[in-house]
Amino acid sequence: MNITIVKSTLNSSHFPLIHQNPCFLPRISSSIIPKTLSYNHPKFHSITASSNSNNQNKPTSMRDSRWSLQGMTALVTGGTRGIGHAVVEELLGFGAIVHTCARNEVELQNCLKCWENQGFKVSGSVCDVSSMEQRERLMDTVSSLFDGKLNILINNVGTNIRKPMVHLTSQDFSTLMMTNFESVFYLSQLGHPLLKASGCGNVVFVSSVSGFVSLKSMSLQGATKGAINQLTRNLACEWAKDNIRCNAVAPWYIKTTMVEKVLSNEEYLDEVYSRTPLSRLGDPAEVSSLVAFLCLPASAYITGQIICVDGGMTINGFYPKIDFQ
Ligand SMILES: NC(=O)c1ccc[n+]([C@@H]2O[C@H](COP(=O)([O-])OP(=O)(O)OC[C@H]3O[C@@H](n4cnc5c(N)ncnc54)[C@H](OP(=O)(O)O)[C@@H]3O)[C@@H](O)[C@H]2O)c1
Repeated sequence: MNITIVKSTLNSSHFPLIHQNPCFLPRISSSIIPKTLSYNHPKFHSITASSNSNNQNKPTSMRDSRWSLQGMTALVTGGTRGIGHAVVEELLGFGAIVHTCARNEVELQNCLKCWENQGFKVSGSVCDVSSMEQRERLMDTVSSLFDGKLNILINNVGTNIRKPMVHLTSQDFSTLMMTNFESVFYLSQLGHPLLKASGCGNVVFVSSVSGFVSLKSMSLQGATKGAINQLTRNLACEWAKDNIRCNAVAPWYIKTTMVEKVLSNEEYLDEVYSRTPLSRLGDPAEVSSLVAFLCLPASAYITGQIICVDGGMTINGFYPKIDFQ
């Protein structure tokens, strides 16, 4: 493969952030892009692999590096099932080195074995993220594994207790606040030095549509997700100077063990479908793809956003079934 260096006519002072940010450093990769795509405009400082007669579709590394997490380190909480499991697989697929955690050791070991058999670089800790002591131990492990540097923190763990407001107990309050909000608040705080040290950090929170719209019997859970949404915006501004982006994804119903029981009620499921413009449930991989995108250099100008993955549920207005003008 012939390597051509396309030099910029502009010096780094024209684009100081881009040139100083290691997220933008071009890498050579072997994936294929259409030969019509070209980045040899003088504005671009990139390394491209030029095509020859044997292989017309050679890669352009600037594009490849924007869509790669090769060598990036990641912590994904709750990676043994559901959305977290899909996120681990998505990040591994993009080349990241991933550490995950869950409370159930057997499930964790099974997942790790399965991923290792596929040749992925992955490790895990048994950890309950609602415990301060266990969170600290988790971050110590991550720090020693990744040499004090973490590129990606996915705050995925969350739970739900569905009850009308007047039936919620103080125990319910503590459980939901500790698992959904306290955990992500302190994990982000503990992770900050590692994210900063990486030179290119990304935090993605797994929120919920319940942080935007009212859902029956979910006043407390919705409040924890609403808190996550505002934390996302605040950290995006506070940590921008440290080259750390913070975003959140907000799913509606996604097919995971967490919602299996409530969705086993067919009448309820029909109501969910009729409230959702795309008339179906989401798949964990439809959330993990967005999470990965938000960690990629390709999304480097996006921070402080909470993006719904909801089949259109939160923008749905009034569409009566009866037909009239
Ligand atoms: N599924 C949906 O429809 C939906 C919709 C909106 C938002 N969400 C959000 O998406 C996130 C993931 O939900 P999910 O549906 O994928 O859940 P899930 O299928 O129940 O999976 C949860 C994962 O997190 C782990 N986990 C749970 N509590 C934990 C704790 N205290 N400490 C450490 N690990 C813990 C679980 O393993 P262990 O049990 O072994 O700990 C498992 O790996 C949550 O924040 C949830 O609020 C989900």
